Amino acid sequence: MLLKPLFLVVGAASVALAASNEPLRSCFENAITDRGSFAFAGDLFYDRIVNRYNLNIPVTPAAVAFPTSSQQVADIVKCAAENGYPVQARSGGHSYGNHGLGGTDGAVAVDLKHLKHFSMDNTTWQATIGAGSLLSDVTRWLYHAGGRAMSHGICPQVGSGGHFTIGGLGPTSRQFGAAIDHVLEVEVVLANSSIVRASDTENQDLFWAIKGAASAYGIVTEFKVRTEPEPGTAVQYTYSMEFGHPKKQAALFKSWQAFVSDLTLTRKMASTLTVLENSMAISGTFFGTKEEYDNMNLSNKFPGANGDALVFDDWLGLVSHWAEDVILELAAGIPTNFYAKSTSWTPQTLMTPETIDKMFDYISTVDKGTLGWFLLFDFQGGYINDIPTNATAYAHRDVLIWLQSYTIDLLGHISQAQISFLDGLNKIVTNGELPFAAYPGYIDPLMPNAAEAYWGTNLPRLQQIKEQVDPNNVFRNPQSPSPAKKDSF
Ligand SMILES: Cc1cc2nc3c(=O)[nH]c(=O)nc-3n(C[C@H](O)[C@H](O)[C@H](O)COP(=O)(O)OP(=O)(O)OC[C@H]3O[C@@H](n4cnc5c(N)ncnc54)[C@H](O)[C@@H]3O)c2cc1C
Ligand SMILES: *[C@@H]1O[C@H](CO)[C@@H](O)[C@H](O)[C@H]1NC(C)=O
Ligand SMILES: *[C@@H]1O[C@H](CO)[C@@H](O)[C@H](O)[C@H]1NC(C)=O
Ligand SMILES: *[C@@H]1O[C@H](CO)[C@@H](O)[C@H](O)[C@H]1NC(C)=O
Ligand SMILES: *[C@@H]1O[C@H](CO)[C@@H](O)[C@H](O)[C@H]1NC(C)=O
Repeated sequence: MLLKPLFLVVGAASVALAASNEPLRSCFENAITDRGSFAFAGDLFYDRIVNRYNLNIPVTPAAVAFPTSSQQVADIVKCAAENGYPVQARSGGHSYGNHGLGGTDGAVAVDLKHLKHFSMDNTTWQATIGAGSLLSDVTRWLYHAGGRAMSHGICPQVGSGGHFTIGGLGPTSRQFGAAIDHVLEVEVVLANSSIVRASDTENQDLFWAIKGAASAYGIVTEFKVRTEPEPGTAVQYTYSMEFGHPKKQAALFKSWQAFVSDLTLTRKMASTLTVLENSMAISGTFFGTKEEYDNMNLSNKFPGANGDALVFDDWLGLVSHWAEDVILELAAGIPTNFYAKSTSWTPQTLMTPETIDKMFDYISTVDKGTLGWFLLFDFQGGYINDIPTNATAYAHRDVLIWLQSYTIDLLGHISQAQISFLDGLNKIVTNGELPFAAYPGYIDPLMPNAAEAYWGTNLPRLQQIKEQVDPNNVFRNPQSPSPAKKDSF
């Protein structure tokens, strides 16, 4: 008796939904004639097509489109803008806030999975990469095009579209810069559906905004990037410790912080300190020989931890080793319910020994609401710090250490206790100072001052450029920079 009215309600709702999207659908049908190139809310298998990454955020776009060319991207943007829909590109779909689907219901998601072209100019070693390519594609293609590489993060399923436009920090970033620092030119579809190129010599303001905040400025369809020769021999090391007394953990953390805050430390050293429910580890890649590595005497630096080192002579082997990282498997393999936050320290704002003690006391006593949580302290600095804060929209050039904190639930939604654990941790480690500098690639959908925390002092200029290229805010998600207020005259 109960089921029938329920079906009627659902049926009526999806009929209403479909009807309200009818003008958009017919615009798409006129513009794109390929079969299967778009789907609408209410269509068969729509949930599977939407394919949310963070199950904790049940975003439902009005439509998902799968263009096969820049011109089709432009046609889709035109239809969406004319009918008043917000638009977001989706490349790898790995936004923590499901921003590639709009971040909130009712957007048009433009999935770029068909834009996967690649070519290499072997006189300049500059590569052209379609913005639907995943990091795994990019690594493989560059390698086979003359043993080349570029900096990027370690998760193979992340998309170049979201990664090369937000920052893109990885193990070689201390030597060669973030992924955005490799981008020399882009092709981009704007809100008025024109297709333009942007670089340091053409549409410079747009190019500046694309390098750190692209999702609010257009849809990048193609990147031209500089590349490096693939790194040669590398040593992958781990120093781990079972969880014991918080004082022991704090001591290991202090040794690590001292190690990475030595500004003479080679840029060939990458390092992450991981804290889990039952253990703690310092791990990373040293881009040099085993002999050079041994000469650094790391085991003397991390007393109480058990060391282990693996030597890699081939780049693809090393990259797949990164991808096998246990934590990454947990986060990347299957869509899950999770919540994440980030914060950071510069050489001037590092935690004091007392704050480090407080952090580990907090971790050992607070209700975390789950066993599925982890903290990653990533050593940054190096090349990224050489670039002025105002040179790209990506603003956090002075960061020495990033903290990414995660809480996961494999079965259901994230609880308030889980969120409170990460909130409380951030307050302790930053001495309660606001606004936190947060990494714009680790979306925290609950952060109230998000745009400020993501783009810092570059936000006002971003808002001005937004006013010029997208005054009606076609490209938006709940945390993107809004156009500058027009009431300034
Ligand atoms: C398991 C995992 C590991 C990660 N590791 C790292 C790491 O090591 N280093 C690091 O820096 N980051 C890392 N990240 C964060 C990652 O860089 C961001 O989540 C990134 O934005 C994802 O890009 P995407 O294309 O996969 O996501 P999507 O959800 O497709 O897009 C994310 C955002 O970028 C926008 N966007 C996507 N494509 C385009 C385009 N072509 N033009 C304009 N805007 C576009 C979308 O609209 C959306 O707002 C990791 C993420 C995950 C899930
Ligand atoms: C560049 O590519 C061309 C064509 O594939 C090839 O003949 C040439 O040897 C390459 N040059 C280098 C330096 O790899
Ligand atoms: C490493 O340890 C050896 C022996 O303990 C010492 O002679 C050497 O100076 C140390 N090197 C560094 C870089 O600390
Ligand atoms: C960045 O700031 C410096 C110093 O204030 C200034 O000289 C430079 O023109 C700025 N660059 C950009 C791209 O705005
Ligand atoms: C589209 O917008 C860009 C950026 O504002 C502008 O330069 C260009 O002239 C516009 N094109 C058309 C056809 O209106």
